[in-house]
Amino acid sequence: MSGPADQALKQRASKVIPGGMYGHQSVSFLPPSAPQFFKRAEGAYLWDHDDKRYIDFMSAYGPNLFGYCHAQIDAAYTQQMQSIDVATGPTALMVDLAEAYADLVTHCDWSIFCKNGTDATSIALMIARAHRNKKKILMATGAYHGAAPWCTPMPAGTVADDRKHFIYYQYNDASSLRAAAEDAGEDLAGIFASPFKHDVLIDQELPNLEYAKAARQICDDKEAVLIIDDVRAGFRMERDCSWHSLGVEPDLSSWGKAIANGHPISCLMGSERTKKAASDIYTTGSFWFAGAAMAAALKTLEIIKTSDYIEHTVTLGTILRDGLNDIASKHSLNISQTGPVQMPLIMFNDDAGNRDMMVGTGFADGMIKGGAYFHHFHNMFINAAMTQDDITQTLELAQKVISSITTPQKA
Ligand SMILES: Cc1ncc(COP(=O)(O)O)c(C=O)c1O
Repeated sequence: MSGPADQALKQRASKVIPGGMYGHQSVSFLPPSAPQFFKRAEGAYLWDHDDKRYIDFMSAYGPNLFGYCHAQIDAAYTQQMQSIDVATGPTALMVDLAEAYADLVTHCDWSIFCKNGTDATSIALMIARAHRNKKKILMATGAYHGAAPWCTPMPAGTVADDRKHFIYYQYNDASSLRAAAEDAGEDLAGIFASPFKHDVLIDQELPNLEYAKAARQICDDKEAVLIIDDVRAGFRMERDCSWHSLGVEPDLSSWGKAIANGHPISCLMGSERTKKAASDIYTTGSFWFAGAAMAAALKTLEIIKTSDYIEHTVTLGTILRDGLNDIASKHSLNISQTGPVQMPLIMFNDDAGNRDMMVGTGFADGMIKGGAYFHHFHNMFINAAMTQDDITQTLELAQKVISSITTPQKA
């Protein structure tokens, strides 16, 4: 169980917050040791209301890229707050930020700023349809693109018509994508693709080139719009859109989470080809023009361009992956570590190769109890504030936890 202060908060929340907590930060599917509430965050660490410290491998589910309470980024935010934030019109920072993204991100010629990833993916959907006045959208089965009625993973509160014009394909399967495009016929408006397959509960997969190229080719042939949803992975894999090194550029890309290191801003970037449609749709929000988060995004971008943060997270992620593989193999545990090392998904399989949620839950439970906040079915996020020492401590803890849930083999 989480500590008494957290239990008391959960109890109070159960009376005034639907379900006790909603959405991706609800701990209802996590091991009982997982605290729901935190009172402090700094660098790579979180503290719960029972004053227990965690090395946080979830990084706020993505927004923490450079560490919580980052001095320079937070100073940029608070300084901007002292002059102008939400007002009758935006600040010059909006133009600065759109120019900075157009300079850095290869396919980007313009930006629309908003607040959440779902805002950006929903605007992408509208622009794809407005581009040539078509309706059909292709989406990979199981992919997450947000929590609006057209994409929420839970059916409650939605109607079949919300997804009437969606056709689903298998990620990384070019022939399934081509078949879906065929079904859409002349009415294909756009294709959504995650930068890599990062669905919950199943192994992650990096994109294969045939699939990525097929997505681009179909959109070119059918005057449709290719959308990369970089909300989760944006700036964690590349200092550009995440398919850039594959040599495939989208027409639109949605961003959020890490782009201002936790300050509230998301963005839809687009190429010249889609600018007319982007100007035709009506989209807005009371807080979308706020200056402070844009100041934080500009400072975050400066650090993205000038530091070796990706390389650092890859180094740490590799040490973690190799170390866990060693420990698991010493204990004859069938561990499955998939996806980019800096966004690892760690799960366990039984002897027949089926997912072993008992082991996975027990492992995450032990890690959380020992002070490393792990998730047993969602990808985790290494952040740049983590150190080799954090990973060493985490591996020592993993050794203890795995020993306690298995019987080691004799050497
Ligand atoms: C790939 C992807 N797209 C969209 C979203 C939605 O973002 P938000 O929760 O900020 O609305 C998420 C959130 O996890 C995501 O991972």
